[in-house]
Amino acid sequence: MLARSLQRLARPGARLMSGAPGSEKIAMVGSGNFGSALVRILGANAQRHAVFDDEVRMYVYEEMIDGKPLTEIINTTHENVKYLKGAKFTPNVRAVPDLAEAVKGATMVCFCLPHQFLKPLMPTIKASVAPGAKCLSAIKGIDFDDNGVVLISDLLREGLNADVSVLMGANVANDMAHDQFCETTIGYKDEKNGELFRLAFDAPALKVGTVKDTVGVELCGALKNIVAIGAGFSDGLGYGGNTKAALIRIGLKEMIKFCKMFYPNAGIDDNTFLESCGVADLITTCFGGRNRKCAEAYAKANKTKSLEQIEAELLAGQKLQGTLTAKEVNHILKMKGLEHEFPFFTTVYKISYENAPFSALTETPYQ
Ligand SMILES: NC(=O)c1ccc[n+]([C@@H]2O[C@H](COP(=O)([O-])OP(=O)(O)OC[C@H]3O[C@@H](n4cnc5c(N)ncnc54)[C@H](O)[C@@H]3O)[C@@H](O)[C@H]2O)c1
Repeated sequence: MLARSLQRLARPGARLMSGAPGSEKIAMVGSGNFGSALVRILGANAQRHAVFDDEVRMYVYEEMIDGKPLTEIINTTHENVKYLKGAKFTPNVRAVPDLAEAVKGATMVCFCLPHQFLKPLMPTIKASVAPGAKCLSAIKGIDFDDNGVVLISDLLREGLNADVSVLMGANVANDMAHDQFCETTIGYKDEKNGELFRLAFDAPALKVGTVKDTVGVELCGALKNIVAIGAGFSDGLGYGGNTKAALIRIGLKEMIKFCKMFYPNAGIDDNTFLESCGVADLITTCFGGRNRKCAEAYAKANKTKSLEQIEAELLAGQKLQGTLTAKEVNHILKMKGLEHEFPFFTTVYKISYENAPFSALTETPYQ
């Protein structure tokens, strides 16, 4: 029923009782590589679908590029020349350096920024968005507290008192920026909100699937980055496809085990692992993507360069997420005495941050 109503709404000019034209105001918190790729789609869809207000605001952590503010460059050239060069936004996308102004009155707030920057932004966001605003997180990462894992979507739910959907998938931003066909997965708790976000993101080159499983979708998005680091080490050591396939299989098993062990009652659906957010994202991230690339360079340099140095050299301001996630997951595993249950995640961590040699990648007894 709901899906049909929203399909009707998808036609320009269509109306829905609960969604008058222009009633949904979209904002994006984040303007990096993937954040910008998503905003490109949101901008086009805001023009396409009547329910969305025309303007899409994008919060930009301001920086100067060749003496000019990045926001000014984006608003005149319609291109994020630093993080998504060569791809144009529709003119209804407005880059805003002031966070409160960027999210003021927004009814649909999307989040896509490296998770380490999120927490300090939340009070301002809470004070500025429309009452009852719904949120969506495309952030791939996890946090932790004294009790163990904290999902980024839970941080948002708690900090903003809002319903939060998640979007994760096989989505290398630079490929999306050139409209190469791909899929993604939205995990929702509230079906109506999940469908609205699907409408906002679904596009000819981005097929959005929806599942009622936010936890499985989000954990897949975060944990696959650890596997990508292992895959990058494998590439850097000169191993071929057989080795990488073995590591992907082993990594996927640990991802599933982690999900089930830490969230036994969250309704994680086995089918989620077969969606774009699961096996597809795992494959793309172990072949393309920044985590694999940096891990390959780290292995090639045989640890003579630090991860920070490699991140700075190869990513031009983008952030390496997989090693940070490996560290955060290891912190939780250590705290719970569970390192031995996750030998692959532990090995990736120990090669990245401790003295473990690269040979541990293939010599550790995995299950
Ligand atoms: N790039 C991809 O292909 C891709 C694909 C899927 C998901 N993701 C996920 O999307 C999330 C965001 O990644 P991205 O690629 O959009 O970002 P990015 O790594 O390209 O860019 C970093 C962003 O952080 C901002 N920033 C730097 N310092 C900051 C600060 N102190 N406070 C606030 N912002 C600050 C920068 O301005 C920039 O917008 C991550 O969780 C990532 O795992 C990325």
